[in-house]
Amino acid sequence: MSEAYRQTWQASIDDPETFWSKAAEKIDWDRQPTRAYDPEQGWFPGGSLNTCYNAVDRHVAAGRGDATALIYDSPVTGAVRSWTYGELLEEVGRVAAMLASRGVTKGDRVVIYMPMVPETAFAMLACARLGAIHSVVFGGFAAHELAKRIDDATPKVVLTASCGIEGKRIIAYKPLVDDALASAAHQVECVIVLQRDLLTTELRRNRDFDWAELRAATADAAIPDCVPVASDDPLYILYTSGTTGTPKGVVRENGGHAVNLAWTMEAIYAIGPGEVFWAASDVGWVVGHSYIVYGPLLVGATTVLFEGKPVGTPDPGTFWRTIVRHDVKTFFTAPTAIRAIRKEDPAAAFLKDIGTGALQAIFLAGERADPETIGWAETHTGLPVIDHWWQTELGAPAIASCFGLGDKRRKRGSAGFPVPGYAFAILDEEGSPVPDGQSGAVAMREPLAPCAFRTLWNNRPGYEKNFATFPGYYETGDAGHFDDEGFLHIMGRTDDIINVAGHRLSTGQMEQIVATVEGVAECAVIGADDALKGMIPIAFVVARAGAENDETIPARVIAAVRSELGAVAALKTAYLVPQLPKTRSGKILRNVLRKIVNGESFETPATIEDAGVPDAIREAVKAKVLT
Ligand code: COA
Ligand code: AMP
Repeated sequence: MSEAYRQTWQASIDDPETFWSKAAEKIDWDRQPTRAYDPEQGWFPGGSLNTCYNAVDRHVAAGRGDATALIYDSPVTGAVRSWTYGELLEEVGRVAAMLASRGVTKGDRVVIYMPMVPETAFAMLACARLGAIHSVVFGGFAAHELAKRIDDATPKVVLTASCGIEGKRIIAYKPLVDDALASAAHQVECVIVLQRDLLTTELRRNRDFDWAELRAATADAAIPDCVPVASDDPLYILYTSGTTGTPKGVVRENGGHAVNLAWTMEAIYAIGPGEVFWAASDVGWVVGHSYIVYGPLLVGATTVLFEGKPVGTPDPGTFWRTIVRHDVKTFFTAPTAIRAIRKEDPAAAFLKDIGTGALQAIFLAGERADPETIGWAETHTGLPVIDHWWQTELGAPAIASCFGLGDKRRKRGSAGFPVPGYAFAILDEEGSPVPDGQSGAVAMREPLAPCAFRTLWNNRPGYEKNFATFPGYYETGDAGHFDDEGFLHIMGRTDDIINVAGHRLSTGQMEQIVATVEGVAECAVIGADDALKGMIPIAFVVARAGAENDETIPARVIAAVRSELGAVAALKTAYLVPQLPKTRSGKILRNVLRKIVNGESFETPATIEDAGVPDAIREAVKAKVLT
């Protein structure tokens, strides 16, 4: 074991006050916090800071204005560009001036619905500069989901682009924004649209502004100063799937976020000033917030913003090419991406040809990393491939091998060890710790580390629910166990959340949509194993009386989920079945459905109401597979 890791973790648990006060020294404060933590006031009470200043301005002030801050590599457009910290300050400043010209000030919300272009990062940092609160919505969500977020966050301004590029397809973004704003109850003051050459869009009079024109119109305005905000003022709201159709607005506070992220860059990822870090995620997800935008910049490193896919843009060598081209030292992606590369390039011919340059480690997260995928990547890269675990709620990893602290231990199938700042417990249904080796609910003792959420936007009860099942503990919603060497193994969720290609989705939410489709009497959506995406959703639908032979139902179910939730739901299979398997008390036996589609054998549960139902479902699944 790494002694540095052991001592660091122990210190963070025994004396969090000293531990996090020391970590806070890496951040520039406008007003120093009076202490690290107070149970009532949270992290770094009394402190004020500006996250944009810490991520951009201070590096320029320290004489590192010529160091590269951001690299945009876009195989889908052919563009490769970089910005020094000095240039980044100018770009962020210009967007801040644009926003200020539209009246955006401290505390206002700004929704950002944009593709993987550098302007998205500029916009996030510009909001932070003004003390405004951004809420980035992932481009794969449909208009209805965007509308829900607009109604909850009530933004003054929406920032968008004319289009995104998904592999070889161009996806128009603006019509989705128009639809969302038409159905949202909240009215925004304006929409600022980045026109991309590949597809431009019409602007609405009196509401929409052209990004470039507004930038030009405000070009003479001074770059707005960084507005100091309190440690617990929100930096952003990031909506994530909960167990119902209503997304949870995770609120990230400025102080704890800056301190914690800067700490992880060094201790987990071994990245410091001038070194290149690449998280191949999307800015719409928490990984993108923390490790494409804020984390690397907070420590003065170089970050890569990649607009492409692991395969098809143009080939399965694109990740390795990007790593070599930019001297990436630490790389972060989802297991699905590695599986996609492996599927197209099983012998790793591209990898052998291109190499991995200066790369020292690959980190994986977002879903369970299967041992085979890790094995393939380690064999062919010859590098450590490190699974680590976290959640939107936490904002940074909570289980990992702290590579930067010299911890090289890994075990395939495990996400590693508790990260300093987190004390884990595996609890049974009564809330008692279970012995090592035994599975239970994965929980963490309060207080959580500084980056973790301390409330949900407009939803305090929703936040408190996470701490209600096991008093004194945060319930992660995951099940897992510690093994006898202290490795923590995450085995899956205890609720209806599934991870599809590393994207977090709620099957409960999909069920709510399916239930409204004409002709559907009842339904269940489950997560089935998938060799590429880890999991995929599958719908089982019972038709209402009279519609049993309506063969259009499955297609309409699929279309409804796509149009209401978004393409990212990846629901491609729906079975029309005569009945759902239920207990005598009427509870749907989703596990039975899961086992049937996974082809697993199982004993029909004794509680089942009708023992003939599983066979009927097997038939329906088989019939569809054969057609
Ligand atoms: N904007 C618009 N649409 C989007 C989108 C975006 N930002 N992201 C995804 N979509 C669409 C896709 O085009 C696809 O649409 P389709 O059904 O019409 O083909 C759908 O949403 C599902 O996307 P995805 O699940 O990503 O599948 P894919 O087939 O497009 O790509 C992979 C497969 C493996 C290449 C891709 O899932 C991948 O890169 N995964 C890594 C995930 C990751 O980095 N997650 C972040 C967590 S760390
Ligand atoms: P998200 O909030 O999108 O980051 O999703 C968080 C959920 O993804 C967790 O609760 C887990 O269920 C799952 N997850 C993330 N990382 C891992 C991992 N390394 N191993 C297993 N599951 C993971």
